[in-house]
Amino acid sequence: MVFVPEQSGKGYNSFHFFLFTQKFQDIQIELNSAFYLALMKKVLVTGGAGYIGSHTVIELCNDDFIPVIVDNFSNTDDRILEGLHQLLGYSPELYRVDCTDYNALKAVFSSERPDAVIHFAAFKAVGESTALPLKYYSNNIESLLVVLRLMEEFNVNDLVFSSSCTVYGQPEKLPVDETCPPQPATSPYGYSKQVCERIITDACAARPSLKCALLRYFNPIGAHPSALIGELPFGIPNNLVPYITQTAIGIRSQLTIHGSDYQTPDGTCIRDYIHVCDLASAHVKALRWLENQSAVCEAFNLGQGLGNSVKEVVDTFVRVNQSALPVVMGPRRPGDVEQVWADVSKANEQLQWKTERSLEQALKDAWKWEKHLQQAGVKS
Ligand code: UFG
Repeated sequence: MVFVPEQSGKGYNSFHFFLFTQKFQDIQIELNSAFYLALMKKVLVTGGAGYIGSHTVIELCNDDFIPVIVDNFSNTDDRILEGLHQLLGYSPELYRVDCTDYNALKAVFSSERPDAVIHFAAFKAVGESTALPLKYYSNNIESLLVVLRLMEEFNVNDLVFSSSCTVYGQPEKLPVDETCPPQPATSPYGYSKQVCERIITDACAARPSLKCALLRYFNPIGAHPSALIGELPFGIPNNLVPYITQTAIGIRSQLTIHGSDYQTPDGTCIRDYIHVCDLASAHVKALRWLENQSAVCEAFNLGQGLGNSVKEVVDTFVRVNQSALPVVMGPRRPGDVEQVWADVSKANEQLQWKTERSLEQALKDAWKWEKHLQQAGVKS
């Protein structure tokens, strides 16, 4: 709206001039903001209300991307949206849509016209996938196929895909790098990730304008340091760190260490634990990297680049949080690999990314989140 100063009997006075200048500045600010907004890239984040997705939404905003969340809320709920609102000061655009629903997701592409996609939405419980393989194959593979079809239809070229170090199985050489050939998968979940990587590789070969970063996560742990977002508990946790925090707070009676007779220094399995905020920032780096690439489909390991045993994680948790933790030794868990940790030099060099948070920090943040859940009355 343009401000036209009213003419008084004596002509324009200095007050009118002040108002006119103010209004002109306001219009300029509005135009600048609109221009800036038009330059900001919109990123569709499937699974954006989930554990890693929600932390990535924060990092996207920090780097001036506009996130658009698509989530079917099968493994999260509105509390994460409230946390995001508090952290960001606004609520990102949200669609309660299942990514296997082609028509519903097409409507999202049509109204949002994204510049890029980060595809998290998938089931991820290894044990459940063995009991319900069809559920895992149909959801994890179908949702990717729908995303890829729509990216082609709407000429969206940049894809960041959420993969897993599970594709390596038990590598012969440690730390494992991206050239290590995938091993036969030990679970339907793991196989679904291998198949998805293959589908994307084939899609990129067939459509060279499509570019993809396949991000192979090691073991994401912790929560946002504000304790406003984190992983929501749904049933008995499979993963080590949520099991530790739930035991320390009294929801579980004791932690069982699955196997103490492995060929490792203290006999327990070794993994590469990475703070979820470090993992989230790698997605933004991957998007920036894709902007400068053509015809590319590359895998990147995302871990700390360090191996820690289960016993080391337990001891560190007790030390940094000064918390009691009842622990017993149990038999090996079927399907566990003995030890795996990442060579992260490719991500360090090509994505210009490195981790900034230690295991200690991650375990402090995980504990803070567990206490927040308790205060909020959240029961597992
Ligand atoms: N562990 C215990 N007690 C528990 C839970 C876990 O001792 O109560 C041990 C496991 O046996 C394993 C280690 O802690 O040695 C880590 O187990 P997690 O379940 O936390 O993680 P995983 O390494 O088994 O699985 C993770 C992801 C999967 C991914 C896999 C790839 O959760 O999605 O890494 O290796 F496929």
